Amino acid sequence: MQIVRTPGSARAIARTLHRPVGLVPTMGALHAGHVSLVERARSENASVVASIFVNPLQFGPNEDFDKYPRAFERDVEMLADAGVDLLYAPAVERMYRPDFASSIDVGPVASSFEGARRPGHFAGVATVVAKLLHAIEPTSLYLGQKDVQQTAVLRAMLRDLDMPTNVVVAPTLRERDGLALSSRNVYLDIVQRAAAPSLYRALSSVSRAIERGETDAARILATGRALLAPPLVWDYLAIVDPLTFEELDPVRRPAVAIGVARAGSVRLLDNVTIASANGVDPILTPPHDLPRAARIRH
Ligand code: PAF
Repeated sequence: MQIVRTPGSARAIARTLHRPVGLVPTMGALHAGHVSLVERARSENASVVASIFVNPLQFGPNEDFDKYPRAFERDVEMLADAGVDLLYAPAVERMYRPDFASSIDVGPVASSFEGARRPGHFAGVATVVAKLLHAIEPTSLYLGQKDVQQTAVLRAMLRDLDMPTNVVVAPTLRERDGLALSSRNVYLDIVQRAAAPSLYRALSSVSRAIERGETDAARILATGRALLAPPLVWDYLAIVDPLTFEELDPVRRPAVAIGVARAGSVRLLDNVTIASANGVDPILTPPHDLPRAARIRH
């Protein structure tokens, strides 16, 4: 696995790779969820590129940029073992010049829920992912379902800006008790960790109610809200349209049940998708669905 540190060298070497090329963008502190994205990219592409970059633009002033977990040596080993061909790991100064001032505003899909609670977060994500795409020019971009609003924001950006890259969204990986894997789970203490799977139980109950045909959002959400175990408290629980992230009431399918629970200063984020009546998942990309080279699907 080659490691490159600048946009120029990333582009020069990425252009020599056999196509199609899959890109797995990460902020490091890798876990099995990232590895499963790399494995998926490996199975669908001739070459796989990963990036590690803790992106300051997507952290608010009171967020955990400085203490965000970093484990570069271990990450490098994991990516090499998983079959990555090229790792792009720029320093902040190589990604953003001192006078860097551009920002991508994706519009309404980026302004609710996480966008409302973390002002500037999605502009930071969209801007860095656009820069990664320009550096690597991948055929497909691999994203995890866990950050589901991020997948909708990036799909909108690629579509609106005519970017020639497919989006592939792969399922969330979970601990045996249902907790979604996340680099931030290391922040949980024992009591918070024991309560954490109740977020997924709440989201699953919302999903089952919709699948049974219930349409009254307030009633469905009240039942889900009651399932969160203390000391977790709700930030939000909602049923939204998978493309626009507008709340659905009455509820219709397809939909996504999204939830954030707070455990002290940690925000646990998760979601469950509810397929359309004909069984099509609104977020996930079916495996091996992509034609090997050309057609672009956002
Ligand atoms: O999901 C993440 O880890 C980040 O938001 C991403 C996509 C790597 C952009 O910094």
